[in-house]
Amino acid sequence: MNQTGSTFVILGATGDLTRRLLFPAIYRLFVQGEWNAGQIVGYAMENWDRNRFLQHLETNLKTFVADFDPEQWAKLQTRIAYQSGDLTAKSLSALKTYVTQDAIFYLGLPPQLFAEAAQGLGQAGLHQPPSSTGFRRLVIEKPFGWDLASAKQLGSALAPWWAESQVFRIDHFLGKDTVQNVLVFRFINRLLASIWDSQHIAQVQITYAETLGLEGRWQYYDKAGALRDMLQNHLMQLFTLVAMEPPSEWDADILHNHKAEVLRAVRSIPLDQVADFAVAGQYTAGKVNSQAVPGYRQEDGIRADSMTETYAALKLYVDNWRWHGVPFYLRSGKRMAADYAEIAVQLKSVPAKLFGAGLSNWLVFRMKPEEAIDLVMWAKKPGMDVDTEQLILTAPYKKSQESDYSAYEQLLLDVLRGDQSAFPRFDEVEEAWRIVDPVLQTWANQKPEEYPAGSEGPAGQNRLMDGAFTWRPLKA
Ligand code: BG6
Repeated sequence: MNQTGSTFVILGATGDLTRRLLFPAIYRLFVQGEWNAGQIVGYAMENWDRNRFLQHLETNLKTFVADFDPEQWAKLQTRIAYQSGDLTAKSLSALKTYVTQDAIFYLGLPPQLFAEAAQGLGQAGLHQPPSSTGFRRLVIEKPFGWDLASAKQLGSALAPWWAESQVFRIDHFLGKDTVQNVLVFRFINRLLASIWDSQHIAQVQITYAETLGLEGRWQYYDKAGALRDMLQNHLMQLFTLVAMEPPSEWDADILHNHKAEVLRAVRSIPLDQVADFAVAGQYTAGKVNSQAVPGYRQEDGIRADSMTETYAALKLYVDNWRWHGVPFYLRSGKRMAADYAEIAVQLKSVPAKLFGAGLSNWLVFRMKPEEAIDLVMWAKKPGMDVDTEQLILTAPYKKSQESDYSAYEQLLLDVLRGDQSAFPRFDEVEEAWRIVDPVLQTWANQKPEEYPAGSEGPAGQNRLMDGAFTWRPLKA
């Protein structure tokens, strides 16, 4: 599709997200010849002129792009404009000078401004496509809402102006190559189709452990916590990819229908049983990668009595034919023992007692630190006795770890192309809030369990595990 003539407007153009992730991604797409939108307009409150904006972008590109090339930047610059203003319709109307044809509006703003910005653009008439074949798109960063009620409110605030087909909600995990591979691997290999159900699968564990702490984001993080920051969106999306029914074709609507359906089938967590389904943790002082680090409550900006969880684990059950009785465990934490992320699917052991108990297969999609798929099998140990040994078949997916902005590049390209398949639809987001809402309510005034920085998480995480299951160790 030829995008020449479309305008890419960034609201919040002087902010952190734009400088760290969005603009490096735009730059890289441009260098690769993929950025075929026309003009880029930065819009923000700062009373800057174009030169000041360009200088700001250049300084940050030099920091965040390893192979920054001044010649490419000189070419990209010619497309960039800057407009200062607030989020009122009156102010936003100034954008009409630049936006005459197709356009994309990217909200790189704090979440509390999403509704105001989307409405302001609507009231200024900027949401209306220029023709029946043209487009106006709105890109929103997470979090989409703060809980179920506020997500619904935000949905209602957008609805009069922006149709679902115009809204692209970014969940950068869905732009990750290994994440997209989960769907491809699942649905292209017939071998998996016959084992992908409760008859064969015992449990699924989805772990996203980080050694990182707050990275200066305390204002946001202390209000959000791990459940809102990671589980409601990123891990819930990983869960849908594992649990959804096979779509008949690679079509955004069909994919979203299937994802929304499996989320709807997730059993609600009863308010009086949250402790059986969820664990909150908060790190105390400890050592991460041999470095001493302070506890969460001692971090800059954090109150000494903060109740915010820096670790969250959830157990989900899916009440449908395929998954009846299979627990899905999701967990993510900051300042943990290792940067380790995986989706691990355990098969049930064979029913005969031929070779001893507990010899089960695992299929593991590893995302961090390396990207690979492991299939854990068993075989005869060479020798005179009939002994068994583990056999791990590993398929490396990619050698180097993807950079932060490559997921953004992928998603931006999808926005330019108008492909919504990697952007959660409103009903998916709403269902995800429905699932975590009882936990949020219960945790609001509850002190999370402590875990030392650099550990595997709070000891209480094990109470979620059914039967003899245990959390898989984090591999350094
Ligand atoms: C972000 C969270 O959405 O995802 C961060 O806000 C987290 O807290 C990050 O560190 C993890 O994603 P990635 O791709 O950087 O591993």
